[in-house]
Amino acid sequence: MAIPTEIVNRKLSHFDLCAHQEVEFREKTTWLEHVELVHQPLTETRLEDIDLSVEVMGKRLNFPLIITGMTGGADEVGIFNRDIASLADRLGIGFGVGSQRVMLRYPEMRHTFNVRPVAPNLLLLGNIGIAQARELTTRQVVDLAESIGADAMCVHLNTAMEIIQEHGDHDFRHSIDTIERLVSESGIGIIVKETGCGFARESGKRLASAGVTWVDVSGAGGTSWVAVETLRNRVLRQLGEAFWDWGIPTAASVCELRDMNLNLIASGGIRTGLQAVRALALGARLVGVALPVLRAYVSGGIDGVETFFNSFFAEMRAAIMLCGCSRVADLDPRHAVISGALLDWVHQRGLPYGSGFKGAR
Ligand SMILES: Cc1cc2nc3c(=O)[nH]c(=O)nc-3n(C[C@H](O)[C@H](O)[C@H](O)COP(=O)(O)O)c2cc1C
Repeated sequence: MAIPTEIVNRKLSHFDLCAHQEVEFREKTTWLEHVELVHQPLTETRLEDIDLSVEVMGKRLNFPLIITGMTGGADEVGIFNRDIASLADRLGIGFGVGSQRVMLRYPEMRHTFNVRPVAPNLLLLGNIGIAQARELTTRQVVDLAESIGADAMCVHLNTAMEIIQEHGDHDFRHSIDTIERLVSESGIGIIVKETGCGFARESGKRLASAGVTWVDVSGAGGTSWVAVETLRNRVLRQLGEAFWDWGIPTAASVCELRDMNLNLIASGGIRTGLQAVRALALGARLVGVALPVLRAYVSGGIDGVETFFNSFFAEMRAAIMLCGCSRVADLDPRHAVISGALLDWVHQRGLPYGSGFKGAR
């Protein structure tokens, strides 16, 4: 049953635009190209024995990767959620649904998010925007997670996108109070995530003092949500063009937060296994990908997505071995030398780096 509302139409148009249009950053990159992994020619492992598994929120993943939240709320995208979640379960990686906002108004749309029946062991993440979370009781947020059997809830921050969106939310007061309340009262894991603009140290510190332990940096260099809204919006087009490339590159965002005892998910522009290992060596615990999964699915179906992940994981395994490690958990900032714009950023921002810095994980 399709319910044609503004929210549903928006989600469908997001999916379609992301599948077929130029929605990525134009000039800005992730800056992961400024991270050089240190080659170790002497290694004592077999490629097949490299251990990429990690434990996350009580579940073991075969690979340190999450498909970050994209969609739900219409039958067309419900099929995508089920197909991708079932593959993620089989591969042993995590999966997030898109914003569950539509379920608040149309609970009957639950089935488009409810992937549990096809993915019983999956690490599954729910999703809601901070502006909606603020208006909900803690119980209502927990209900959203429980209604789809999610293991944790992502609360997304998307200020830049909302400013460019016609009739978007402009009021983000009490965001930190809301996060603090959810962390202390909900009893479920709360992951605070950006949507392509990244986090700075100052925001990271506020999250850490609010009790947050998981942050998905979703930095600049991949999908630009300002771009997506700019393509949809005739009224604020000029504003959108000006801010198309706004945000902190993913590599810089990891450096901003990496000594804070936060579990970091590095996402935003991660497209290859090699980039993923660079982000993990910088200090992330997991990496996240969104757009490449959607595109592989649209062009090659579920087999296309599996092919994408197979080469992604092969690259990860090779890079970890060539760094002289036998487990992904052995990677730390000593395996990564940073240069160029990333090094300038780290200097100017007074962030820790260098041979003595092992990271906080
Ligand atoms: C089609 C699409 C829809 C998305 N919808 C959501 C959403 O509902 N909630 C959310 O937190 N992030 C959403 N995102 C953002 C992604 O989770 C991710 O943070 C961002 O796209 C950066 O990763 P990427 O460069 O790999 O795409 C969406 C991304 C895409 C491509």
